[in-house]
Amino acid sequence: MAAHDSYLTLNTGTKIPSVGLGTWQAAPRLVGDAVFTAVKAGYRHIDCASIYGNEKEVGASLKKLFDEGIVKREDLFITSKLWNDHHAPEDVPEALDQTLSDLQLDYLDLYLIHGPFRVKKGSSMSPENFVNPDIPATWRAMEKLYDSGKARAIGVSNFSSKKLEDLLSVARVPPAVDQVECHPVWQQEKLHTLCQSKAVHLSAYSPLGSPGTTWIKNNNILENPIIISVAEKLGKTPAQVLLRWGIQSGHSVLAKSTNEARIKQNLDLFGWSIPHDLIAEFSKIEQASE
Ligand code: A2P
Repeated sequence: MAAHDSYLTLNTGTKIPSVGLGTWQAAPRLVGDAVFTAVKAGYRHIDCASIYGNEKEVGASLKKLFDEGIVKREDLFITSKLWNDHHAPEDVPEALDQTLSDLQLDYLDLYLIHGPFRVKKGSSMSPENFVNPDIPATWRAMEKLYDSGKARAIGVSNFSSKKLEDLLSVARVPPAVDQVECHPVWQQEKLHTLCQSKAVHLSAYSPLGSPGTTWIKNNNILENPIIISVAEKLGKTPAQVLLRWGIQSGHSVLAKSTNEARIKQNLDLFGWSIPHDLIAEFSKIEQASE
């Protein structure tokens, strides 16, 4: 039987698996194998985006998993994201259709506005290409995709508390999810509280703090002494403690790995938990930002 927190519930009533495989920065040729390995190991949630440039490869693996009878489409939860150059309402359905074609699917479980930024169609994220976003207009186009059934839930990513509140005040269909960077060094307390009060699910990308990257300070969380000490007390790895903290906060966690052993390790999060006294230790961790 599934552990009680291996699935969480969205405001649509749909269940979202609390562990997902992230595919950002997963190198071509590795990402397809990672998806295949992960689903075989029991993952039921894959987080994709058109800008990751690997949806065709993910789609080929999904097809293989379905063809080989390893999993059924209805048992998977697949997310993708609308890139910043497709915010114009008339471009939104085209973007989803391209993603569905690349992933070889006829619907997504969740489609997100990738960020509250907009660039001219077909252009890069260089400063000269930025134009003012019109999130309410883009959101109305997202709502139409929800109505059509091609996106069974819709949401946003990288939205601050302020931007999420602005959207909630105009949305006919409230966003089901805000996917943001979240881990013990960036606990997103304000957004977490807002999401809880408004029934928006917070999904955590880079839940391991993207080891090796440098865009936030103190991000080497796998080596944080508090995390190491909690891990040692529980007989778990630091990565498992980080992911378990996210789940106990009510978030889904989207850890990226292309390594089979780590893919499996990152799913071994159920049947144990971090006790209250050790959860209290996380409030002592210096925050990168809020
Ligand atoms: P790899 O793909 O070689 O496993 P995040 O999800 O926070 O962005 O972190 C992704 C990074 O963390 C990748 O570099 C990934 O490397 C590494 N990683 C994933 N799982 C683990 C783990 N269990 N222990 C240590 N590093 C991990």
